[in-house]
Amino acid sequence: MLREINVKVNGKDYQVKVEPRTLLIHVLRDTLGLTGAHIGCVVGKCGACTVLWQGRQVKSCMVFAAQTAGTEIVTIEGLAEDGHLHPLQQAFWDTDAAECGYCTPGMIMAAYGFLLRNPHPSENEIKHAIAGNLCRCTGYRNIVEAIKKAAIELQGGKSHG
Ligand code: FES
Ligand code: FES
Repeated sequence: MLREINVKVNGKDYQVKVEPRTLLIHVLRDTLGLTGAHIGCVVGKCGACTVLWQGRQVKSCMVFAAQTAGTEIVTIEGLAEDGHLHPLQQAFWDTDAAECGYCTPGMIMAAYGFLLRNPHPSENEIKHAIAGNLCRCTGYRNIVEAIKKAAIELQGGKSHG
């Protein structure tokens, strides 16, 4: 049975029809064409599908689309503004924090949600924040560096140690 829901994604209102079992990742990718969030495991283990839902990072394969009725979602497509990369995207670029790039949108969205709540993180807090996001390529070091760099950038260039 299809249900119609209203949802705001990257600041834009959408009305979509979903089944009770339809996953958020499938609505984002297949219905709205927002393919930045990737599908890896579909069981909540890899984090490739991470998006922001109501201000917190979630694995969108673990959320039924129907649960998001009347709420707000941000995907990786919603980060750049006026053609300028978000500081997190720029930091990933600057520090070579992506190799194949499959994990990158989820990694950036996990970091984005984390930095909203903790703008002055320690290195350990960063590592903990991305513990649910798997990267098969980079060994994580440059990813952690990128998030540190972005945090400083977002604070206006001041390091908090
Ligand atoms: S696809 Fe969602 S956590 Fe792996
Ligand atoms: S860059 Fe390839 S999985 Fe992370």
